[in-house]
Amino acid sequence: MANLLLAIETSCDDTCAAVLDGPRILSNLISSQAAAHEGFGGVVPEVAARHHLELAAPVVEAALREAGVGLDEIDAVAATAGPGLIGALLVGISTAKAIAAARRLPLIPVDHLQGHIAANFLEPDPLEPPFLCLIASGGHTLLAGVRDHEGYELLGQTLDDAAGEAFDKSARLLGLGYPGGPAVQREAEQGDPEAFEMPVAMARNPGLDFSFSGLKTAVLYRCRELGPEGVQERRADLAASFQAAVVQQLTTKLKRALKQGDWEAVALGGGVAANGPLREAVAALCEEQGVRLKLVPISLCTDNAAMIGSAARFVVPVPYPDYLGYDAFASGETSAGVPH
Ligand code: KG4
Ligand code: ZN
Repeated sequence: MANLLLAIETSCDDTCAAVLDGPRILSNLISSQAAAHEGFGGVVPEVAARHHLELAAPVVEAALREAGVGLDEIDAVAATAGPGLIGALLVGISTAKAIAAARRLPLIPVDHLQGHIAANFLEPDPLEPPFLCLIASGGHTLLAGVRDHEGYELLGQTLDDAAGEAFDKSARLLGLGYPGGPAVQREAEQGDPEAFEMPVAMARNPGLDFSFSGLKTAVLYRCRELGPEGVQERRADLAASFQAAVVQQLTTKLKRALKQGDWEAVALGGGVAANGPLREAVAALCEEQGVRLKLVPISLCTDNAAMIGSAARFVVPVPYPDYLGYDAFASGETSAGVPH
């Protein structure tokens, strides 16, 4: 198995490259495009792809330099194959293919969600399966039953918006910047989480699925009722009430999943896992339920290439030149490991 791995992640708006020695991170670089998308209040796919094109080579070079590793020492190249924005993914996969092909190295296509789970396998203090993993990001919200390093069982997922998407859209309604999650969290610190009643969807529904679009609509209606000046006045209360409803829905489902299974450990992944009140609520739940909680550093919760390199260790590499016709996939069925 390959030892020194170069990993590339470009599924959304961050250009990321990392070098790993097995489960050890030698470098993990993220070039955020947030400033480029801020004016639009969200990620513009075409803008993201163009920025990846400019940033991919320099970010890879910087990751190698920081790791103190030459390209000639790399044993395999991994890249996110999907799901994500197709134009953005294609830049990462093409960069990885070009680097790998130049040295006849194997290519390892990685599923982005498996990457979020695999962030927990990294040193120091890796978490061994089995564990229950809650992934909440800008594009996904799901509960995964992780029983080995290679895959996961989907226990529940959002039926509409992702939790991070709800943060981003609500932030926009409240006149806060992009990305919305950190901005809402900061604003909520000054607010009262009980000031406004917000719907906690799916709470009475027996399954493990999530829904966040009703919550976003509730924020929209409150904003309309209050008018621009009222929103400005009550922004902190609105942010706090919205955030509390997201945290409550996520923890309610997590608790339900814990009760349904025999899980002894819980892990969080995805950008929303950077949310302070969510981390605190999940910590309290795990303590109450007597299960171990693994919280990776925030830099490994949000999109990064180290998590892609971590997942790649458990994917069968595609040998040169079989991957030359390999494509990225935007959503749906994973084609990771299956060149076409
Ligand atoms: O995993 P990620 O970096 O990218 C995707 O795969 O989507 O997640 C980004 C999402 C964004 O929606 C962002 O607003 C949210 O994670 N996020 C947060 C926080 N930090 C990032 N949401 C709530 N609280 C935060 N502190
Ligand atoms: Zn992600």
